Amino acid sequence: MTRLTKPIPLYRREEEREGLRAASRFNAGLMDSLRPHMVPGITTLQLDEMAYLYTRDHGHTPACLGYHGYPNTICTSVNEVVCHGIPNEAPLKEGDIVNVDLTTIVDGWYGDQSEMFMIGQVSETARRLVQTTFEALFKGIRVCTPGCRVSDIGRAIQTFAQKAGYSVVREYQGHGIGREFHQDPGIPHFYDLASSRKLLAPGTCFTIEPMLNTGRWKTRVDKSDNWTVRTMDGSLSAQFEHTILMTEDGPEILTLTQHGPQEGELVGISSVSEH
Ligand code: MF3
Ligand code: CO
Ligand code: CO
Repeated sequence: MTRLTKPIPLYRREEEREGLRAASRFNAGLMDSLRPHMVPGITTLQLDEMAYLYTRDHGHTPACLGYHGYPNTICTSVNEVVCHGIPNEAPLKEGDIVNVDLTTIVDGWYGDQSEMFMIGQVSETARRLVQTTFEALFKGIRVCTPGCRVSDIGRAIQTFAQKAGYSVVREYQGHGIGREFHQDPGIPHFYDLASSRKLLAPGTCFTIEPMLNTGRWKTRVDKSDNWTVRTMDGSLSAQFEHTILMTEDGPEILTLTQHGPQEGELVGISSVSEH
C-alpha cells in the first residue's frame, strides 16, 4: 500500500517537549525585546539588526537567515505586504501596520511566531483588520483538541474571517515545526478536504498563522526579490502566528509573550509597556 501522506513527526517525550518549549520561549522573549521599538521613524533594517544581535548574544541561531537564500533575520511585512517582507531602509511611518515574523533555532529546536504592530494612530480600517486577524488566530487555536481534524482549524478561521468581511490567503499556510522549520502537517487557514483526513494527535507541534486581507485573497510575489508577497489587489493584509504543541490535555501555546497582546484583549493596548 502506498502512503498518501508523509507521517507527521510526533514529540511524545518530555525532553523533546522541553526543547520545543525552550525555543519558543526564547523567540517570544525576542518579540518582547523588539516591541518597544515599534514606533514611527525606525527602519525595519534596524529592527532586523536588533533581532540578529539579541539572538547571537544569547548563543542561538536565526532560522530565516540563509533559509532558501533569505537574506535577513526577520520578516517585516508592511501594509499590503502579506508575508516574507525583507527589512529595508524605509522608516516606518504613522498609520502603517507591520507584521514582524521571528523564528529561532535553540539547541536544534525551532520556535516561530509573528505579531502585528500599529505604528502611531492607524485608520479604523487597519485597526479592525488587525484586531480581527488576532481573534481569528485564537478561533483556530480554541477548536484544537487532541485528535481533532486539521481542517477544523481552517474552517473556524475562514468562517470567522469571512463573517467579518475579509478574505483568507490560500497560498501560504501554517506548518508542522520542531526539528525542522517546515514539516508536516500543513495547516490551511481555510476548509480543505485533504486536511480533513489528517488528525492532530498528541505530540504534534505546528503553527497557526492566518493572513487576512481587506480585499481579495490572491497574492503575488515581487519579481525584484522573489520573496515579498503582496496582495494582488493592493488591499491591506494582516497576520498573527503562534507555535502550538498538541498535548494529551489540549493545545499548549508555546510562543505566548508577556508584554504582547493577550487573548480576548485589544491588540496594541500593552504594546508600549516597559521592558
Ligand atoms: N516565519 C515564516 C513562517 O511563518 C517563514 C519565513 S521563511 C523566510 O513560516 F525565509 F522568509 F524567512
Ligand atoms: Co513565522
Ligand atoms: Co510559520
